Amino acid sequence: GLSAAAALSRRVPVTGAELASALPLPPAFEVPLPLPSVLKPVTTSGGVDRYEISQREVSLEILPGVRTPMWTYHGTFPGPTIEARRGRPITVTHRNELPVPTVVHLHGGRNTPDSDGYPTDLVLPDGWPAPAHPMHGMAGMTDPRAVVTRLTRDYTFPMDQRPALLWYHDHRMDFTAPAIWRGLAGLQIVRDDAEDSLGLPAGPRELPLAITDRAFDADGGLRYPALDPTLREQPGVHEAYLAGVLGDVILVNGAPWPVHEVDAVRHRLRVLNASNARHYELEAVTDDGRRLDLVQVGADQGLLEAPVTHQFLPIAPAERYDVVIDFAGVPVGSLVRIVNRLGSGRTRDVMAFRVARKAADDSRVPRTLSTDLPTWRRSDAVRVRDFSFRAGRVHGGHGWLIGGLPFDPARPDVTVRLGDVEVWRLVADVHHPVHLHLAGFRVLSRGGKQPLPHDAGLKDTVSLRPGESAEIITRFDGYRGRYLFHCHNAEHEDMGMMANLEIV
Ligand code: C2O
Ligand code: CU
Repeated sequence: GLSAAAALSRRVPVTGAELASALPLPPAFEVPLPLPSVLKPVTTSGGVDRYEISQREVSLEILPGVRTPMWTYHGTFPGPTIEARRGRPITVTHRNELPVPTVVHLHGGRNTPDSDGYPTDLVLPDGWPAPAHPMHGMAGMTDPRAVVTRLTRDYTFPMDQRPALLWYHDHRMDFTAPAIWRGLAGLQIVRDDAEDSLGLPAGPRELPLAITDRAFDADGGLRYPALDPTLREQPGVHEAYLAGVLGDVILVNGAPWPVHEVDAVRHRLRVLNASNARHYELEAVTDDGRRLDLVQVGADQGLLEAPVTHQFLPIAPAERYDVVIDFAGVPVGSLVRIVNRLGSGRTRDVMAFRVARKAADDSRVPRTLSTDLPTWRRSDAVRVRDFSFRAGRVHGGHGWLIGGLPFDPARPDVTVRLGDVEVWRLVADVHHPVHLHLAGFRVLSRGGKQPLPHDAGLKDTVSLRPGESAEIITRFDGYRGRYLFHCHNAEHEDMGMMANLEIV
C-alpha cells in the first residue's frame, strides 16, 4: 500500500531530481512546432516497403541559436516518421554509424521475435570488438541466444495489426535510457481504410506530438547523469540515475515549448510521451481560463470502441493517446496552452496552439469508432500471474526488480502458450509504467476497482501509480519466441526492471 511506497521513498527518490539546464532557456510559445518528416521507402516492390535509416551523430539546433550534438535516426530528432498500412509488411535497414552498439525496438508492433529488438541483439558499429558472447554493462552476463550483426541489420515488420501510433527507439541492454535521451526515438503510424473512412481530422489537422524533457549543459550538449556509459560505474552517478532522469526543458517534436497555428476547427492530436521518466497530466486551457474537452478516440493500440471525453489526460512514459480537440469557439488570435498539471514553473507549460482563423470543418467524431476490439473476459483466462515491481538490490547496488529479480537474458521468467488468455496482476511500489511487448492488453481493474476512464481501449503500457495494483488481460497471439515486459521508466528498465516472456 501507500505506506510501503512511503517507506521506500525514504531510501530512494520516488521521482528524480530535475536536472537544471546551464544556459538561458527560450521563452515559451515562440519556436514553431516542427512536424517530423515522413520517410520515403527506397523500394516498394514485392508487396514490401523497404526503408533505410542511418543512425548517426549530428549537431541539431534544439534551443534557438544553440548547437546540441545528438544521436539520431537519419539526422533528425525525433527520427523520420514511417507511415505504414495494415497488412503491408515493411523492412527497415538500420545502419549503425554511432560510436556504440545499438538495438532497435518498434514499440507497440506485433513484431516477429527476430525483429523485436531483444536487448542483446546488438548492431555493432564498425571497429567495435566482437564479444565472444554479447556482454552487458552492469553484470558481465552472457547471452548465447543473442543474434549480433555488424554495421547493419534488417528489421522486418509484418504490420499485421490495428492502426495505431507506434514508436521506434533504442533498446540496448543497460543503455536504453541514455540512448533515448541522446535522441534515438521516432514515430511509426499504422493506418487502414476503415480508419481513413471515419472522417476524423486529417492532413494538416492531424498532428503527431512526441513530448520529451531534456536538460542542457552550458556548451549546448545534453545534460545527463552519465551520458558516457563508462561514467555509470562512478560513485554518485548510480544514485542520480535511480529514480529516472528529468530535465527542465519540455520539447514537443524536438522543439522547446513550441507554438502551432491552427484553424478554429477540430484537430486530431497523436500524443506520445517519449520522455525517459516524466509523467504528465495534460489539459488544454484557453487565454480566458476555459478548459477544452479532450475527446479521446484511441489508446496505445489504436481506436477505442467509442470516444471518451476527458478534462485532463495522465500520460506515462511510452503511452500514446489519440485525442480530438475542437478549437471552434476559441477567439481568433488567442492561444490554447497545453499544460502539464504535474509540472511546476517552466515544466508546467508544454506547448500552445494559436487559433489563426475561422475555417470550415468537414471532420467528424463518429459515435462508433471501431468494432474489432478484443473483449476478453476474466473467465477466458487459463492462468493468473502476479508480478511485483519494486526497488531492490541489483549487483550490490540499488536497482529495480520484477518479482524480486533483476533482468537476466539467460533466465526464462515467464513461459506462455501461444493463443492462451491470461490475467496478470501487477503491483508497484513507486510509479512504474509497465509495458508488454507483442501483445496488446486491456486493463481489467485498477486498485481493486473499475479501470479509470483513460484506461479505455487496447493498451501496451499501463501506468501503475505509487502503491497501486492493476490487473491486465491479454491473449498471447502472434508468434512464438522470446519477448519482454518491463518498466518504461527508461532508467528503471536499465537498472534491472525487465523480464523475459517466452511464447511457446
Ligand atoms: Cu518502448 Cu521494450 O519498449
Ligand atoms: Cu519503473
